[in-house]
Amino acid sequence: MANFKDSILVAPSLMAANMLFLKDEVQAVKTAGADWLHLDIMDGHFVPNLTFGPDIVNQLRKTFPSKNSLEFDVHLMVEPVELFINLYKNAGADRITIHCEATPNLHRFLGYIKELGCKAGVSLNPGTAIETIYPVLDIVDQVLVMSVNPGFCGQKFIASSVLKIEDLAKIRKIRNLDFKIVVDGGITTENAGLVVKAGADVLVSGNSIFKSKDYSTTIAALRHAHT
Ligand code: DX5
Ligand code: ZN
Repeated sequence: MANFKDSILVAPSLMAANMLFLKDEVQAVKTAGADWLHLDIMDGHFVPNLTFGPDIVNQLRKTFPSKNSLEFDVHLMVEPVELFINLYKNAGADRITIHCEATPNLHRFLGYIKELGCKAGVSLNPGTAIETIYPVLDIVDQVLVMSVNPGFCGQKFIASSVLKIEDLAKIRKIRNLDFKIVVDGGITTENAGLVVKAGADVLVSGNSIFKSKDYSTTIAALRHAHT
């Protein structure tokens, strides 16, 4: 499972887009073949930055309705998480990922996200041991491995993330689970092949896509970097 992939999903991180032209930017990545739209929600508390809130997500959802469109992959970098889950579900999230560092009630809130009808994801920071999330691997739809410290686009990929992805791919196989492995932070056309070979199924990418001249070429290059 970890070493051969037919279809790698690409999730542009909207945080890196030109905020003055959000609608056009989303349309552009959709046309360019993006699979998911990655929406980074920051609170200035769990991470030292702010992005956008549920109203923006909701307006984008109205413009790009669920059916036949991009999946909205909401990455909550907020604390406490329970204040925000409903807001983003109601705004139109298809997938909601929460950080294991942001709550002592991780299992409860992952279950709650699923009860709401969303796919549930767990994320961990570069400094958090992978074992921390072992107890919830059987209930999640995706694990988001942070390969930079959360808060900003355009940071350098942290190489030890590859070991975490390999561990996750191994444990997924041993326990016969089927969560997706998502990698987020510093992903480029140069390192995408490496993380996919380690076991990643979904590549989140901010600057590599939105700062490139041709989104289609970059998305295709990310998707096929391992081949
Ligand atoms: C960082 C965010 C990432 C980031 C990715 O906290 O979770 O999604 O925007 O941007 P790049 O690909 O530029 O690192
Ligand atoms: Zn993210």
